[in-house]
Amino acid sequence: EKGGYDYFMLKEIAEQPKAVADTLLGRIDAAGSLSLDEVRIGAGELREVDKVVIIACGTAFHAGLIAKYAIEHWTRIPCEVELASEFRYRDPILGHRTLVIAISQSGETMDTLMALRHAREQGSKVLAICNTNGSTIPRESDAALYTHAGPEVAVASTKAFLTQLVACYLVALYLAQVRGTKWGDEIGAVIRDLSRIAGAVERVLETMEPVRALARTLASKDTVLFLGRHVGYPVALEGALKLKELAYMHAEGFAAGELKHGPIALIEEDLPVVVVVPSPQARSVLHDKIVSNIQEIRARGARTIVIAEEGDEAVAPYADHLIRIPATPTLLQPVVATVPLQVFACELATARGNEVDQPRNLAKSVTVE
Ligand code: F6R
Repeated sequence: EKGGYDYFMLKEIAEQPKAVADTLLGRIDAAGSLSLDEVRIGAGELREVDKVVIIACGTAFHAGLIAKYAIEHWTRIPCEVELASEFRYRDPILGHRTLVIAISQSGETMDTLMALRHAREQGSKVLAICNTNGSTIPRESDAALYTHAGPEVAVASTKAFLTQLVACYLVALYLAQVRGTKWGDEIGAVIRDLSRIAGAVERVLETMEPVRALARTLASKDTVLFLGRHVGYPVALEGALKLKELAYMHAEGFAAGELKHGPIALIEEDLPVVVVVPSPQARSVLHDKIVSNIQEIRARGARTIVIAEEGDEAVAPYADHLIRIPATPTLLQPVVATVPLQVFACELATARGNEVDQPRNLAKSVTVE
């Protein structure tokens, strides 16, 4: 049932191009517009939305952090992302014009369920992004947009995460489409880019052998840091989470701009630091800044592991290890940039003799608060 792979996780990583394509299937019409029939919240109501609040846990929370960039950029609706386990305890400001998006692979996560119940009690509409048909979270929501990743067996989430990203982009673009937005042209182009992203994931998967080899050389390390900016920041958090749960290593993700506010003190000789570099074309200021961040940490002895787009030559001189990903529009980059981090964590877990599919102390769905 592992389809020839040693672990479900490896199988699920390999299934990602299909999972992504399946999640887009039938949702982009021939004219290149989105048709999301499942979102049974009326267009009128969606035009009235004045705030989006995303609630989720763990990896799904990281998908939500990335969604915020897309939602705010494409729709100009303010968006907050909150850990479901914190949400209701701070008496959040919710109303009938707040659209709450609950993201959950299993659809059974108790923290997320309790947060969504709280939101509905306050009169907000809840849209669930979920991978499990008929589970509790979509059943209790006003509408559901299913991710079509197929069953995810490994405890560490991989293909569900990529499809959560795709579903979030679809919702963001749909909101923009329904409301009309000054990004009209850009939206059409993004939908076209999104329909090509499964192919980009496929290409990343073909080039993962050096990442595996690198991971094996780091098996005796205690700590790995992850840095990113913009949408690369949640990708860094996700890379660190994967490493914690699978390799049982101390791993932390930081916004690269925060380095000088404290974390740079952690840098010491030969400390592995993974850096997710944004697209060089799109936001060049951002790109320049991360190049100088890489220089700063390398000057202090860090071993830099740089994930950068093909054709990005500016980073090459400062990368001890360079992992290439296909050039992608900035907001979509997490779909490809996360994949090497999944492979990296899986290989490190294997090298350290850990149980890849069943990490210690963890359960696939967390049905207690
Ligand atoms: C990490 C992981 C967890 C889940 C989290 C939420 O690899 O799998 O962090 O993402 O427990 O689970 P769902 O999405 O089922 O609500």
